[in-house]
Amino acid sequence: MSERKKDHYYRLAKQKGYRSRAAYKLIQINRKFNVIKKGYVVVDLGAAPGGWSQVAKEIVGEMGRVVAVDLLKIKPIDGVDFYRGDIRDKEFIEDLLASIDKKVDIVISDMLPKTTGNRSMDHARSIELCEHAFNFTKHVLRPKGNFVVKAFEGDLFNSYFNKIKENFRFCKAHGPKASIKSTKEIYVIAKHFKR
Ligand SMILES: C[S@@+](CC[C@H](N)C(=O)[O-])C[C@H]1O[C@@H](n2cnc3c(N)ncnc32)[C@H](O)[C@@H]1O
Repeated sequence: MSERKKDHYYRLAKQKGYRSRAAYKLIQINRKFNVIKKGYVVVDLGAAPGGWSQVAKEIVGEMGRVVAVDLLKIKPIDGVDFYRGDIRDKEFIEDLLASIDKKVDIVISDMLPKTTGNRSMDHARSIELCEHAFNFTKHVLRPKGNFVVKAFEGDLFNSYFNKIKENFRFCKAHGPKASIKSTKEIYVIAKHFKR
């Protein structure tokens, strides 16, 4: 059996019908920080194959809305609107901004750059995606809204973290249990946007 198949969260995700083991990271983040609530409008950046969007939709329920964005195609999920494109592409972002509500309650980003195996390059690319995620967030997030973003740890992390901290009342770096131990990923959990 491959390592992946032996993995607890991989098996759990299969059993429960989640499209990714990553679904459990969002479940754990939300249990601890209560960032997504019933009725919320959620934008999920880097959403494919859709595990986070499934979890977000379950939490927000009928009255809420989930907008999923990715470079890759996503198989439809009931109640989730999907926009395919590159978060770094200005034109795509302009179209996206024109078609979605500007009172988003939370932006979540699990975006991951194509990894090269070169740690500092992968880190720099991950922070670049985080910057794009925050630039987008500034345009759509309502006052007191929340933001969750994944980054690879490295020397650019602190200045990114400090920037987010300046813009939110609560800001914490967090490693969910469901993260694979050997990865250098860390999630920034930010609440209460100071718009
Ligand atoms: C780790 S996966 C996300 C898993 C997802 N949270 C889930 O639970 O199914 C990272 C995603 O980020 C997307 N991504 C990477 N760069 C992107 C970009 N520039 N614009 C949009 N999506 C991007 C990738 O295509 C990939 O699907």
